[in-house]
Amino acid sequence: MQRPGRKCFFTFCAVAIVYILLCGVSLHTDGLSTPSEAWENAKWVASSKNWIDRQMCRWLGLCGVMHLNSNGWTWERAKDGIPEPAADFRGFWTTGEEDPDSWSDEEKQLREIPQYVLDHAPYVHLFSGEKFWPSDVAEHLVHISPTMNYTRMDLDNDRNLTNLHDLDGIPGARHGRFVYLESDDNVEERPEWLTSKYNIPHSPDPRLDIQAEHPWPDADEPETPAPISSEQYAVGASDLSSSIGIPFPTLLVDLTPSTNGRCGGNSGFTCKGSKFGQCCSIHGWCGRGDEYCEAYCDPQHGKCNDPLYPPKQPHMDLRKRKRHVPAPEDQPTPLGKSKAPAILIVVDKGNGTVDAFWFYFYSFNLGQKVFNIRFGNHVGDWEHTMIRFQHGKPHAVFLSEHDFGAAYAWHALEKYVPNPDGSETMLGTWTNRTFAQVAKRPVTYSATGSHAMYATPGLHPYVLPWGLLHDQTDRGPLWDPRENLKAFTYQPRNNQTMRASLLNPRAPTSWLHYAGHWGDKYYPLSDPRQYRFAGQYHYVNGPTGPKFKRLGRRDVCQKTGTCRIRHWLGGDRATRIVPSEGEGGEGGEEGGLPGGNSTDDSG
Ligand SMILES: *[C@@H]1O[C@H](CO)[C@@H](O)[C@H](O)[C@H]1NC(C)=O
Ligand SMILES: *[C@@H]1O[C@H](CO)[C@@H](O)[C@H](O)[C@H]1NC(C)=O
Ligand SMILES: *[C@@H]1O[C@H](CO)[C@@H](O)[C@H](O)[C@H]1NC(C)=O
Ligand SMILES: *[C@@H]1O[C@H](CO)[C@@H](O)[C@H](O)[C@H]1NC(C)=O
Ligand SMILES: *[C@@H]1O[C@H](CO)[C@@H](O)[C@H](O)[C@H]1NC(C)=O
Ligand SMILES: *[C@@H]1O[C@H](CO)[C@@H](O)[C@H](O)[C@H]1NC(C)=O
Repeated sequence: MQRPGRKCFFTFCAVAIVYILLCGVSLHTDGLSTPSEAWENAKWVASSKNWIDRQMCRWLGLCGVMHLNSNGWTWERAKDGIPEPAADFRGFWTTGEEDPDSWSDEEKQLREIPQYVLDHAPYVHLFSGEKFWPSDVAEHLVHISPTMNYTRMDLDNDRNLTNLHDLDGIPGARHGRFVYLESDDNVEERPEWLTSKYNIPHSPDPRLDIQAEHPWPDADEPETPAPISSEQYAVGASDLSSSIGIPFPTLLVDLTPSTNGRCGGNSGFTCKGSKFGQCCSIHGWCGRGDEYCEAYCDPQHGKCNDPLYPPKQPHMDLRKRKRHVPAPEDQPTPLGKSKAPAILIVVDKGNGTVDAFWFYFYSFNLGQKVFNIRFGNHVGDWEHTMIRFQHGKPHAVFLSEHDFGAAYAWHALEKYVPNPDGSETMLGTWTNRTFAQVAKRPVTYSATGSHAMYATPGLHPYVLPWGLLHDQTDRGPLWDPRENLKAFTYQPRNNQTMRASLLNPRAPTSWLHYAGHWGDKYYPLSDPRQYRFAGQYHYVNGPTGPKFKRLGRRDVCQKTGTCRIRHWLGGDRATRIVPSEGEGGEGGEEGGLPGGNSTDDSG
């Protein structure tokens, strides 16, 4: 018989261990090392009006316990009023101060985006259950007010893309370092601009959904051979093979039954015929239950109960679209187009090396939960994927994840292949090198809430052991950043010159130099939305912009230090260590970043 006390004891121990771990992590990441941080912390604690709260915070590290409520947000939804009409931001993107007609040929060359950069543009699968979608930086600016030390600045004009940079010059701002763009709305009321729901990438017309036409039998194993996905896929594949001159069967015999329980991605394994179960979940494991065979089933690497299962909206499976090749005129909006532009910054590093940085902006970052307590929210979120080209050939890819990231060799990443008929319908994921000639565009995954970039769908634990803290990605709405793009070129070593590219010659560039933060400063302890346990804040500082993500980096990785380039999605096989000797670290995603003048581009 189990005594209840025992269970209690173990729970207590587990919580205590995690607490100690969290403390360790926080010491490691944001130890109060400098006197000014210690001073700021003292002030932060003192901001609470509640004596008990201050003492608990000082002595136990439990700050703002009273602010918690069950739904993980500290604020109950209150205001349902009509939102104030915001300024019109649509003109912002064409207010560049330069005259494209006066550009010399030489100047035009500096503004050229190489075609290979666009040909190898990444796709982004957003998370199907995402709450905070891609945002337009121009729209962000009409909903914020610049602040310094939690005090609104006294400015004559509202911010827009041409005057944002002026904030860096304001006395006391220490070159933008102390400037924060504070949300005009309470973020916990989730104003529309913050969630940016209207920027969900365009998906195929749901009426075209194939499932309505072909109701599927309930049985697991249909008697009549049905168009199971691999066959369905094969139709396209044969088109493809004829168009690229590769015999068709080779496309399908690639996979071997899983020997270790893994499947999909670049593992080369299918669950068909494996002893771990016949279904492959999109998280990359073989199994038998609904989690493997239903909505999260990957039909290319195993059986699915219903390969044509329509995933919950807006989760969609592009492979279904193959049957409908709508005439171009029926497709007013290209698949994957979001109203929020992606920001492309191309940096020519010389000697044939060109880095293409695809920046994604989200107005809000929802932090992850540990034991149902949320940490690390912030307003403004910049994520990026960098593709390094050598002599016009893609070489490696860097994906930003929190204040670190992962680098992959080009051939390691999943790719989507356009339909041979040119309709840009995806056929699926090809990882075989043979198809590199047609599989030009890599597939990346944006994690729910944090928008960290990953190369595979699934769960991605980080920092804490036992998966206590993890990101999740899946094949949710597919975003094609190439469909709505603002492209720039940058010369880090030449006066840090940003140029609008020929694709959008009238786009303003000065906003890219803004060195302050794109969101609120971490709220004081007196703010009912804020708490801090074990050094981890509920709300942290907004990040600095793209220019401060080490665009001048020599290695593929954002962080200086060892840069490991993975050659396989699944793990450590065939890795290579690339030593580096960059300069001191900067440019993390969250927290109090230096901003200011330092971009690390000088070295
Ligand atoms: C941006 O703000 C400046 C004032 O600082 C103003 O002169 C300019 O017209 C604004 N641009 C747009 C597009 O509103
Ligand atoms: C902001 O706070 C810092 C540190 O307290 C102080 O040095 C600075 O003068 C303040 N700036 C303004 C504009 O109040
Ligand atoms: C790609 O597929 C072909 C045909 O199945 C096979 O011969 C080749 O080894 C595969 N290449 C890789 C890198 O898996
Ligand atoms: C190009 O390579 C040469 C020789 O390796 C080197 O001396 C030069 O500094 C490089 N230039 C750039 C811009 O990296
Ligand atoms: C950088 O800017 C300074 C001042 O604006 C100018 O004198 C200098 O020539 C520029 N350097 C280059 C390499 O363009
Ligand atoms: C930033 O650069 C400007 C001009 O180069 C300089 O005057 C200023 O002191 C610098 N600010 C910081 C914080 O380094």
